[in-house]
Amino acid sequence: MVGIDIIGTGSYIPEFIADNEKFSNFLDTSDEWITTRTGIKERRIMTDKPNYYMGIKAAEKAIGDAKIDPKSIDLILVSSCSPDFFYPSMSCLVQKAVGADNAACFDVNSACTGFISALDIAQKYLLTNQYNTILIVATERLSNHLDYTDRSMCILFGDAAGAAVVKKSDKPYYSMLGASGDEFKALYCKVDYKANCPFHEDEMPFYNGLFDTESKKRYLQSDGHAVYKFAVNAMNNAVRKVMEMGGYTIDDIDLVIPHQANLRIIAKATDMLGIDNSKVYTNIQRFGNVSSACIPVALDELKREGRLRNGMKVCFVGFGAGLTYGAIIAEI
Ligand code: ACO
Repeated sequence: MVGIDIIGTGSYIPEFIADNEKFSNFLDTSDEWITTRTGIKERRIMTDKPNYYMGIKAAEKAIGDAKIDPKSIDLILVSSCSPDFFYPSMSCLVQKAVGADNAACFDVNSACTGFISALDIAQKYLLTNQYNTILIVATERLSNHLDYTDRSMCILFGDAAGAAVVKKSDKPYYSMLGASGDEFKALYCKVDYKANCPFHEDEMPFYNGLFDTESKKRYLQSDGHAVYKFAVNAMNNAVRKVMEMGGYTIDDIDLVIPHQANLRIIAKATDMLGIDNSKVYTNIQRFGNVSSACIPVALDELKREGRLRNGMKVCFVGFGAGLTYGAIIAEI
């Protein structure tokens, strides 16, 4: 069995706090509505620096926590659905900043499922012995993607980054990743740029049924109800699948770290699984949905609070645009 040792974690949380009250200053909304429908009380916004800045800060902390020489890092994987550049990949910017001169670099984008996908890629490289030390960073600045006149979406998200350094272990590890491309219209943010190629003709409509209008097309668009329904079932099914792979029952799981999109989604999915609330970690109340950074930020908080014990069976589960989903049960 080849599993993972999480030898270091780190996170970066921007200073600016946007509590629900601040949203009710410019939107027809209220703390009461947001709290009861989503569980969110406040989120952090990166007001003055690019996304990669947060990723680098989280990476530096994870490397410091792991007490490793950055030159010993073999691979850097960055998960982001809100990158600063089309290219280069964010991982190359992290590599330069942390001095991980010997690392291969690429980015992963499965939206909010991104940290789970990256961790699973890392485990596969550790399994083949191609790489020994892997840095995973998830960094998201979704405040760049939001339409702040759309009260149903802009209240949901925040900005943050989380990171982890992983090495090979001989402890159990089970994973599954899935996607339902059929439902891609339920959650998307379209690239909005005009090419100046003289050979281009008017673009044919991409797909029917996208919500784009001229004023909205560069922003995140979502059918909240469709995502909600998908998320509850996908999380439930994914966790059941990995439990079955490992021969676990729900009582064997010590800790669940779910993607933090809505407290009601987490409550419903974990209720369907029959898992005790005390085993489910949430921080959406303080940070909102920080997309793929949710899970590594939570992991870093738990580590710093001394709540990760050797031998614990931890379940990571999430979903995201795509629509994608995935779950991992790893003994840490
Ligand atoms: N404040 C006040 N009223 C609001 C707000 C708001 N911020 N947002 C919507 N409303 C109104 C609506 O306009 C609607 O009013 P109407 O009845 O007069 O038409 C009413 O509240 C009910 O709206 P619903 O959409 O039915 O509210 P719901 O309880 O479903 O909550 C939400 C909406 C929070 C978006 C929910 O559907 C949800 O969490 N969905 C999944 C999460 C999601 O989509 N996340 C996007 C990213 S997913 C990811 O992380 C991968």
